[in-house]
Amino acid sequence: RFESVTMAPPDPILGVSEAFKADTSDAKLNLGVGAYRTEELQPYVLNVVRKAENLMLERGENKEYLPIEGLAAFNKVTADLLFGANNTVIQEGKVATVQSLSGTGSLRLAAAFIQRYFLDAKVLISSPTWGNHKNIFNDARVPWSEYRYYDPRTVGLDFDGMLADIKAAPDGSFVLLHGCAHNPTGIDPTPEQWNKLADIIQDKNHIPFFDVAYQGFASGSLDTDAYSVRLFVERGLELLVAQSYSKNLGLYAERIGAINVVCSSSDAAARVKSQLKRLARPMYSNPPVHGARIVANVVGDATLFNEWKQEMELMAGRIKNVRQRLFDYLSQKDKSGKDWSFILKQIGMFSFTGLNKAQSEHMTNKWHVYMTKDGRISLAGLSLSKCEYLADAIIDSFHN
Ligand code: LMR
Repeated sequence: RFESVTMAPPDPILGVSEAFKADTSDAKLNLGVGAYRTEELQPYVLNVVRKAENLMLERGENKEYLPIEGLAAFNKVTADLLFGANNTVIQEGKVATVQSLSGTGSLRLAAAFIQRYFLDAKVLISSPTWGNHKNIFNDARVPWSEYRYYDPRTVGLDFDGMLADIKAAPDGSFVLLHGCAHNPTGIDPTPEQWNKLADIIQDKNHIPFFDVAYQGFASGSLDTDAYSVRLFVERGLELLVAQSYSKNLGLYAERIGAINVVCSSSDAAARVKSQLKRLARPMYSNPPVHGARIVANVVGDATLFNEWKQEMELMAGRIKNVRQRLFDYLSQKDKSGKDWSFILKQIGMFSFTGLNKAQSEHMTNKWHVYMTKDGRISLAGLSLSKCEYLADAIIDSFHN
């Protein structure tokens, strides 16, 4: 009976890493998945993570099951970090926080919640968006449609299109927003634009659903990167926020994150949490403990917390440096007069180059530069010494 099973296509992002591994060229460069590398292009485990793990070993902690909602100390620090510990929604107990399997798992749990309790609702997602968003809502059987976001003419935000599409959607839709460092474009709304978005979302009775995968990683500041979420919370809106610690603490494989649902009363929050637990139990029972303890130790300890902020600034700074260096080479070497300044305007881990599918394939086939076919490159996987090579590859592929 398994004979009838067809071969699934490789994942558009994680499949790139598999193809990269199989390439034997010395020149090869993996700019596919968004994973931070050192200047030597090696994976990086943060010092604060090592310190937290040492503490955990010293304490000889056990491996008992966590409650379905996760580690209490983690859930507390993660909500505090996102909303600010003094936020009234925290103090009044209006947030239902459930530890989940990083960004994807948190989004998937929320999608199951939407599917169960908002039968007619649809989710609006940006065009383009992170490759996995559509899979998540498809598999949860939640209908979605796209709102305009990226304008290829300006290589910037199509803000009017975005507003118009959010306005035109049925009242009470969920609007998926990237809290900071939009993936894949690296283009975020300005504070004024966030304000206007909040006006419209409020008018339309929509429910904002933030995906926050880069807090602290976009600007180097945890508070600055939480600006959009906190703005919507200040307006008294009910909303959802999925969080991931993959990038900002480098805990990719620990699968640690959370889903937070801001409700209008603590009673509602308790009920929402009970339902999230009910949905989680048959899916994965309860979440893993190791990453949760690391986060709780780092964020919950003033010394480690400060060290973390410094390490994050270092990582964000290295990415900014390669961004600048890449721009410099592209501007110097490309004789076509193309304006490359969009690279400097984009923020976060990625640059959305504007290379189309065929050009992206040319990057891989001729130059051994592995990237997603939507033209996104992960600058976190680039070193200063490879910028010139990459600039040559991009120029050649653009004009090919
Ligand atoms: C990415 O966009 O590269 C990351 O979020 C990794 C992933 O899970 O796709």
